[in-house]
Amino acid sequence: MTANLYDQKILILDLGSQYTQLIARRVREAKVYCEIHPFNMSLQKIKDFSPNGIILSGGPSSIYDENAPFAEKGLIDIEAPILGICYGMQFLTHLLGGVVSKSGDREYGNVRIRIEDERDLFHGLGRGEEKTVWMSHGDRIDQMPKGFEILAGSDNSPVAAMADVKRRRFGVQFHPEVAHTPDGSRIIGNFLFRICGCEPSWNMVSFVRKTIKALKDDIGEDRVICGLSGGVDSSVTAVLLYEAIGKNLSCILVDNGLLRRDEAREVMEIFQGYYGMDLHLIDAPEHFLKHLDGVTDPEKKRKIIGREFIRIFEEKAKELGNAKYLAQGTLYPDVIESVSFKGPSATIKSHHNVGGLPHVMNLELVEPLRELFKDEVREVGVELGLPRELVMRQPFPGPGLAVRILGEITKERLEILRAADAITIEEIKMAGLYEKVWQSFAVLLPVRTVGVMGDERTYENVIAVRSVDSLDAMTADWSKIPYEVLGRISNRIINSVKGVNRVVYDISSKPPSTIEWE
Ligand code: XMP
Repeated sequence: MTANLYDQKILILDLGSQYTQLIARRVREAKVYCEIHPFNMSLQKIKDFSPNGIILSGGPSSIYDENAPFAEKGLIDIEAPILGICYGMQFLTHLLGGVVSKSGDREYGNVRIRIEDERDLFHGLGRGEEKTVWMSHGDRIDQMPKGFEILAGSDNSPVAAMADVKRRRFGVQFHPEVAHTPDGSRIIGNFLFRICGCEPSWNMVSFVRKTIKALKDDIGEDRVICGLSGGVDSSVTAVLLYEAIGKNLSCILVDNGLLRRDEAREVMEIFQGYYGMDLHLIDAPEHFLKHLDGVTDPEKKRKIIGREFIRIFEEKAKELGNAKYLAQGTLYPDVIESVSFKGPSATIKSHHNVGGLPHVMNLELVEPLRELFKDEVREVGVELGLPRELVMRQPFPGPGLAVRILGEITKERLEILRAADAITIEEIKMAGLYEKVWQSFAVLLPVRTVGVMGDERTYENVIAVRSVDSLDAMTADWSKIPYEVLGRISNRIINSVKGVNRVVYDISSKPPSTIEWE
């Protein structure tokens, strides 16, 4: 699947900004297809991509830094309109012969700018109006390149925005992509629609149609194997493929015994009901428990589960006959992370637990969702008719409850956690919070505390309830769940889950904590 599926597209060159993904989000929200590529994308590749417009992201560097990221010089002769944001604007200025001055002071936070010209980029914002924008920069434009005019200025940055309207080159010193710039979406929209001439036509209906056709053409009569976990990504991947190749798709669901209550059964019901997809359940709780016996180290748990998953999956796939492809629910944030300016981020936890599969099995990968963000995947799921409860399901880690049982994993401890987790989710749902928070779950701690039940002293387990708000799981804050809801969760767990006499709420943000406890 490539960008060539789409008639109109925007290229975002990543010059290292922490906001690059947000630029892409804003463009997609405006219903225009876009892709992020590293700053050093070759001129030939840029031409092949054939963008309707180019956005240069910001970045932490100064153009005077020794290792400052520079995009291809030839970029400047490309026909398509260009919008430089913050560092992107400074880079553009430098490239076109203007002067960027190095400044020691950073301008950071909300700043008022005055609109000097409301044609094109600031259309509809009102000439002479003052607007709040978000700035975060050190250097500034001292002298604009030839042919440029000021579109807006602030006290600290006389050139807060500039343009060479004739050549369709634009620059803004502030960040239109962040929520702190209230008119940001409008400014980006003006760039897309007025300047680049795009239409708001990228939507999930056209994505589904085009993707199914492309999958059909690419895969032909070959067989595809897909691991189904019951999570949103693998479910949507499976259904897209099913729509494209029907019986040539075989799905495998490995019940590792580490799933949430009733999860394997529910997934089987949903997917077997789905036109009778070729679906194979491998009942392997005992197998995983045996291999996890006595293991307490979090990374060891993850490695064992990953390894055994691959082993079991591979065995089943062989039994099913000759497959050429393996389908995976890789999403765009994973793709960006691996191509970005910064390169793959350091491994904090070994996440991609099925990552070894294509290599081991000598299969080619099919990743129909690799251009989508999570909320777009959910929209595709709805479009494909998947039940809302599945489409809106919160993320769940591959190693499952194993990384939420601190210490040793036993059948009994799994039962305790499963019961506590089911209550937590039920109460969060009843409070109308399930779709508002990123994740909410229970964790079983490896300590016991003293309590009193009736007249009896107890010495039992502690459950930690965790709920976080997040946009992308890279950062997260603990959810401000109302006390009454927390109270109900705690009461129900302590009263009905045998072996628990205390419930605590986790109030750590990420960073420095992580979302999962292991
Ligand atoms: P952490 O704990 O690193 O988690 O803050 C970030 C997000 O990733 C999920 N997670 C995983 N997902 N395989 C997955 O597919 C894994 O091994 C894994 N570990 C953590 C976690 O639930 C959170 O949403």
